[in-house]
Amino acid sequence: MMRTHYAGEIDPAQCGDTVVVCGWVASRRDHGGVVFLDIRDVAGIVQVVIDPDATTGADPHGIRAEYVLRVEGVVRDRPDGTVNAELPTGAVEIAATAVEVLNAADPAPIPIDDRTEADEMLRLKYRYLDLRSGRLQSNLRLRAKLNTALRDALGSRGFLEVETPMLIASTPEGARDFVVPSRLAPGRCYALPQSPQLFKQLLMVGGIDRYYQIARCLRDEDPRADRQFEFTQLDAEMSFADAEDVMSVIGEVVGAAIEAVTGDAAPMIERLSWHEAMARFGSDKPDLRFGLELVDATEVFAATEFRAFQGAAVKALRVPGQGDLGRSRLDGLIERAKQLGAPGLVWMRVQQGGMLEAPVAKFLSEGEQVGLVDVTGATPGDLLLLAAGPRRMADHVLGAIRLDLGRPPVGEGGRRLAWIVDFPLFESIDDDGRPIPAHHPFTMPHPDDLELLEHGSGAELLDVRSLAYDLVLNGWELGSGSVRIHTAEVQARIFSVLGIEPEVARARFGFLLDAFRYGAPPHAGFAFGVDRLVALLAGEENIREVIAFPKTQSGADPLTGAPTPIEPAQLRELGLSITKSKQSGQSGRSGPLP
Ligand code: AMO
Repeated sequence: MMRTHYAGEIDPAQCGDTVVVCGWVASRRDHGGVVFLDIRDVAGIVQVVIDPDATTGADPHGIRAEYVLRVEGVVRDRPDGTVNAELPTGAVEIAATAVEVLNAADPAPIPIDDRTEADEMLRLKYRYLDLRSGRLQSNLRLRAKLNTALRDALGSRGFLEVETPMLIASTPEGARDFVVPSRLAPGRCYALPQSPQLFKQLLMVGGIDRYYQIARCLRDEDPRADRQFEFTQLDAEMSFADAEDVMSVIGEVVGAAIEAVTGDAAPMIERLSWHEAMARFGSDKPDLRFGLELVDATEVFAATEFRAFQGAAVKALRVPGQGDLGRSRLDGLIERAKQLGAPGLVWMRVQQGGMLEAPVAKFLSEGEQVGLVDVTGATPGDLLLLAAGPRRMADHVLGAIRLDLGRPPVGEGGRRLAWIVDFPLFESIDDDGRPIPAHHPFTMPHPDDLELLEHGSGAELLDVRSLAYDLVLNGWELGSGSVRIHTAEVQARIFSVLGIEPEVARARFGFLLDAFRYGAPPHAGFAFGVDRLVALLAGEENIREVIAFPKTQSGADPLTGAPTPIEPAQLRELGLSITKSKQSGQSGRSGPLP
């Protein structure tokens, strides 16, 4: 072995022993005579001292930061007054007897420590250097530990790990596909999987009974803090199981994984209906770590003379003690509400005696003012914010403002997990009156709403519920799942409601409809974002901090330069030609097929 110990594991019990450590020079202090080196390896940092009279075989004054060294030496206590309590190895040092420079290093273009001031592009361009920082090392270790815990928890519950293909026909999960042109069938493309959804359902038809996979998924949707092009799901499916079975098993598995990684007891999982989540928190992924709940004030204004509140849902947010918020902050909130799609935002300050001070107060009757204070439970000194309009809009706007005003940073305020159940089957109705599914189109409608699904039209369809459930952690959507449709008839009916013509459904999903004719068991499943869970457990605001080689916000990889232009010969082989993009005048990233 090249080394006897990890640098980060040297401790006082080894005093007097000769040890060999290997690693990078994290920092050096050259006092002319004695040279101090902090040697960093995967386990941590230890101080090496090269005394002036030591003959170590290397010029200690020529050693620079990030040089790769092999150091042999004797462990000794640090002299009194020089112990570093911040460092796990801070009570000891290694007095070097032999130093071998295994490799020299140019000066690092980014600081290799846990500071994040370095420019994002530089950090990603030199990701292999950033990976040496304690922060990324510990995030990746946490991630690996989580994967192991998930495998243990699922394996011990009878789940079989099965890999599904990466080159497939498209799986609709609501994003654009990344496509891979075929060489052997020019003009045709594979899609990279947005999820293993269809294959896991086919595994159930294939009698696999309980499946899981730590699956790479690819979606061409704009990256943001909780979204990357490429991400990882813990994907699972169960036969002869209903929603309760899945929620129970997944709850146990997530709890076991959190326990294994953090040492904390598994948090209990609350349960809210979609309607309750929207009504109280204005979001289908409510952050339950803080209050500031929305209040329905529609009744108070049922007979109001105030135009903006007439015939509308009126939702209120009581912000305790913020009645003295300045005009510019209030104008900022109004602006924010408008960006979120509201015509405006009404604010009121609650005065001593319970009366309201606000530009709109003169339009409200005394009864309305008293009613509003009453329904919100407001007290003098509070601020009230009101949004009026279609209910979903009012909820959405105040839900977002609630987060702006009260959301604790990631990693603070504990862990609040919740199942959100009774989702609507459809999210909205498009301009042609066609419903847009809230989840993928393989989700089973609620059996009590089949009649409505069959005979309803337009906005009525928004009341159809599905057997879908989401798991939410501290305001992040961790994962989602559903009971699946398992008969060809219901599946064909859903495709038809969604406006997918029978020929199109047959061309795209004929294999699934066929499979359903050969004895598909009732089945249900779930998938959650591993990147998101790791980020939340690591206290990171952005999932890129828990991914070894992530992409930038614009989807680029500054390290390899991807996406890169493609060679003409490769294009010819694939039967592709590139046309100029109309908007940019530059070559389009992918040209249409000939
Ligand atoms: P869904 O599309 O909700 O469901 O995805 C499940 C979970 O995957 C994570 N996720 C992402 N994470 C990072 N970057 C992304 N671009 C991204 N997109 C999704 C989220 C999300 O909750 N097949 C269904 C699951 C099922 O029904 O079993 C599916 O993929 O944490």
